[in-house]
Amino acid sequence: MNEKQVIPDINTFYVDDVAKSYESNRVNDRFWKWEHETLSKILQDGKKINTIVDCPVGTGRFFSIYKTLNAKITGVDISPDMLKESKNKMELLGISDQVKLLSSDLLDYKKEEYGEADLFISFRLFHLITPTKIEAMVNKIASVSKDFVILQIFNAKDFSIPNFVDKLKSGLNKDDLDFLLKLKYVYRSIRTIFSFLLKRTGISISKGTPKNSSNYFFDITFSHNLTEIKKFFLNNGFEMIDKFDLLDSEHFKTEAISTYTSILILKKIKK
Ligand SMILES: C[S@@+](CC[C@H](N)C(=O)[O-])C[C@H]1O[C@@H](n2cnc3c(N)ncnc32)[C@H](O)[C@@H]1O
Repeated sequence: MNEKQVIPDINTFYVDDVAKSYESNRVNDRFWKWEHETLSKILQDGKKINTIVDCPVGTGRFFSIYKTLNAKITGVDISPDMLKESKNKMELLGISDQVKLLSSDLLDYKKEEYGEADLFISFRLFHLITPTKIEAMVNKIASVSKDFVILQIFNAKDFSIPNFVDKLKSGLNKDDLDFLLKLKYVYRSIRTIFSFLLKRTGISISKGTPKNSSNYFFDITFSHNLTEIKKFFLNNGFEMIDKFDLLDSEHFKTEAISTYTSILILKKIKK
């Protein structure tokens, strides 16, 4: 598939009503809730963090968590309409002294001007980034963070055998899944891998999603290989020290091995 044909235009997507209804459309989603709870738990130990860059800050979905911290926050986003939403939330929560908002493409972020941070937080960005730009994104994030990165990703395609076996084992060990559901999970997972491998040779076994479907945006976003993401971070002196996956019962009942949300914690090991 031609990369140009499938890139969602970020400059025209997160505008107007999409920005206004972005959060209300998602607050009840289980991925959204789990991401919030998981970040909140991770940051409970974050008292020593003095500075955070959150990019993309979007509508400021984590501002209520940041309010409980002493850290100064820099929220960066490429969309002025999403920044309008985060500005409203910042004022509503009374944290305007704690948070600075910046309109910028992450790749253009100038750390000399805007500053570095102890912690870089990035949620729901990588699936919007084309494969050719992922390494540059990782390099930029690593250059801005002095110590830690918390990175959320969707659908990281890591089909290495140990990863595949591990995920299947967690599904098969679930007590609340009956045999048929376990079998379906194995089937869906194997099908995903075949479909992925076939796609790489130019053959598609999925029907694809019509442009007017509400799933279209989901269908044209990108999935990146976790091993590769980790390698790019390692090249910048960052090691993955923890990883959280939303592998709940719902996942095993309805999704496949590559369809879930994950949160990675990376730490700078070489200064
Ligand atoms: C799916 S939203 C995620 C927002 C927020 N992190 C969240 O989890 O809700 C994606 C956001 O990324 C922003 N974005 C996309 N590409 C970007 C880039 N290159 N630099 C900065 N922001 C970008 C969009 O404007 C949008 O606000």
